[in-house]
Amino acid sequence: MKLQGPKGTRDFYPTEMARRRYLHDAWRRVSIRHGFDEVDGPIFESLDLYRAKSGEGIVSELFHFQDRGGRELAIRPEFTPTLARMVAAKANALPRPIRWFTIPNLCRAEKPQRGRLREFDQWNVDLLGLDDPLADAEVIALACDLLRELGVTPDMVQCRISHREAARAILTSLGVHDDKIQDAFTLLDAKGKMPLSLFVDKAKALGLDSKAVDRFNTLCEKSYPIKEINALRDDAGLDDALNDFALLDTELDNLGLHEWCQYDLGIVRGLAYYTGTVFELHVTTGKERALGGGGRYDKLIELFGGPAMSGVGFGMGDVVLSNLLEDQNLPLTDDSLNPDVFVAAAGEDTVAVLSSTTMELRRSGLHARMSYKSTRNIGKLLKEAEKSNARLAVIIEDRDRAQVKDLSTGQQLPHPLQQIVQVVKDSLARRNPGAQ
Ligand code: HAM
Repeated sequence: MKLQGPKGTRDFYPTEMARRRYLHDAWRRVSIRHGFDEVDGPIFESLDLYRAKSGEGIVSELFHFQDRGGRELAIRPEFTPTLARMVAAKANALPRPIRWFTIPNLCRAEKPQRGRLREFDQWNVDLLGLDDPLADAEVIALACDLLRELGVTPDMVQCRISHREAARAILTSLGVHDDKIQDAFTLLDAKGKMPLSLFVDKAKALGLDSKAVDRFNTLCEKSYPIKEINALRDDAGLDDALNDFALLDTELDNLGLHEWCQYDLGIVRGLAYYTGTVFELHVTTGKERALGGGGRYDKLIELFGGPAMSGVGFGMGDVVLSNLLEDQNLPLTDDSLNPDVFVAAAGEDTVAVLSSTTMELRRSGLHARMSYKSTRNIGKLLKEAEKSNARLAVIIEDRDRAQVKDLSTGQQLPHPLQQIVQVVKDSLARRNPGAQ
């Protein structure tokens, strides 16, 4: 019987795992450099955690089940409810502002398609307890810094920013009743995924007539650069609803994010808990699903039984990010997993010292691999060393002597076997002086 992995999941063979690790390392490195601490939670939670707080979109995509005690559980489709639960539970003991990041794998029962799978990794960054637009700007800056670190430039990806209050004010002016605003956000968020006729029908049911839909579409088609908030104010006929937005504008300007960001009223976000700034990272070709998204959620911690506390954050998935790096011919991995040294035995009576020398190198902290081939042909052994992508090859000639070859420069010298660990370490240090 031939068994396949479940629909929408991936197997990570060593090549794929190295790529996965490359992204995780970059996410982790950039988060730490920006002053965020890593956290994690369980991979399943009680279903109720998602029911009330996330909105229909996510709840309809949940994988859920009952445990033997009849408790309704769900595999995590996002991390934000877990984060809110964790913060609410220890709110008074946690030093503020809370600056957390996490890299969970999540499951959503979505229709698998380019950029969307049923299991994926999602980098989350959240800043809580700092009720200041600087917090919004800081998390946006972190997302842009990560992209820059991976070689992505602002002509490839833009952060499109809007504000729930601005969107709410426009929708209200177009005839949407207060209790239908969340439904309108959900509908607008899903607009690109349905035929226009269905969208218009659903919009009408929410109180938007065709004229209002046209008006909203026209507003959403335009984007505005940082520091052009007044043009947005005039076009949308908004006044007070843009006050918070204007404060964010100043912070984005201070952090020099002009190249990466633009304002776009078409960004509303489907998740129910966002209260202020909302944003999404989009590939500029427009051909991919969102690369990341987030926003401000100032009521969520209270909803989870904690104190009143502001929060802002985002999630970025690995799937669209990998597609982007591949399409742009950017690195998908680095050489951090390559062996430092590859050891082989070329002398007749040297097989016994091959494994002990390799082990000695490993115990000294080096990444060492060895040949299992029976050949004593130095040319063949060196070929194997090159294939392993090792930095150096150690070819043991006899019980006292080994050739040490730098596989990038081709330089090769004989050395006493007793000193091999120090020789290898010195050679590596010469190749990469900054690393020692
Ligand atoms: P989200 O917009 O649902 O937000 O997801 C954020 C990102 O996760 C997406 O832009 C995409 O890169 C990735 N993603 C989502 N679904 C899938 C999927 N089925 N397959 C692959 N990648 C996917 C949230 O999850 C919020 N909880 C983020 C957040 C954190 N807001 C505040 N803090």
